[in-house]
Amino acid sequence: MSDSNLYKEYEPINTNVPIQITGMEYFGEEQNQNDLNEIVNNNKENTLQIIGRFDGTWDGELDDAVKTATKVRYADRIEHKDYLYEVYDFTLCPIIGSLPIRLGFVKNKYHAQIQMQRPGCVMPRHKDPKSIFTVYNEYESKSIRVLIALAHWEYGQLMCFENKILTGWSKGDIIYCDFTSTWHFTANCSYHSRPLLQITGVASNKLLQSIQNKEFRVFSI
Ligand SMILES: [Fe+2]
Repeated sequence: MSDSNLYKEYEPINTNVPIQITGMEYFGEEQNQNDLNEIVNNNKENTLQIIGRFDGTWDGELDDAVKTATKVRYADRIEHKDYLYEVYDFTLCPIIGSLPIRLGFVKNKYHAQIQMQRPGCVMPRHKDPKSIFTVYNEYESKSIRVLIALAHWEYGQLMCFENKILTGWSKGDIIYCDFTSTWHFTANCSYHSRPLLQITGVASNKLLQSIQNKEFRVFSI
């Protein structure tokens, strides 16, 4: 069976939608040699954690969801040969839209978006600004960001967290990292779009505890 039969493309329907420029990611701070040494020699245990997996399927929902995709360019990106496409409306993909609550985010205190990183698209190294949690200010200590892989990994796709390179993920894998203190980047050198659900917001005590205890939880859909 060829690759194209194994995996769907999940291509945005309309690639000519207006570009939305956001400033959410922060690239302004140049790394000095100490930063770089710290990253290369980083043996931090908590740089990256796979905290669980969603077992189930949302087949078909991505095809519908991308109909409402917005074309996004992050303000400080150094290269943007191709754009990121983001989906904010979960009306057409209710199972995907239910994942944050199933995982343990607090109702009405999180935001989520699907990020479709198309082939050739890169997000250069950066840390996320603490302002990603501003909207939940009073809960900052309980606010986290996680990623959920919405499709199987394709050869050529990668994420990097300081000196740890992540490849080979499975659909449903739940990825946790402290994105505000950890340098990270991502690139899609495959021929397939890479859909991730990014969730940011207030986590329940149970979710925070399970991350701290390094549990691996399986959620059935
Ligand atoms: Fe980031």
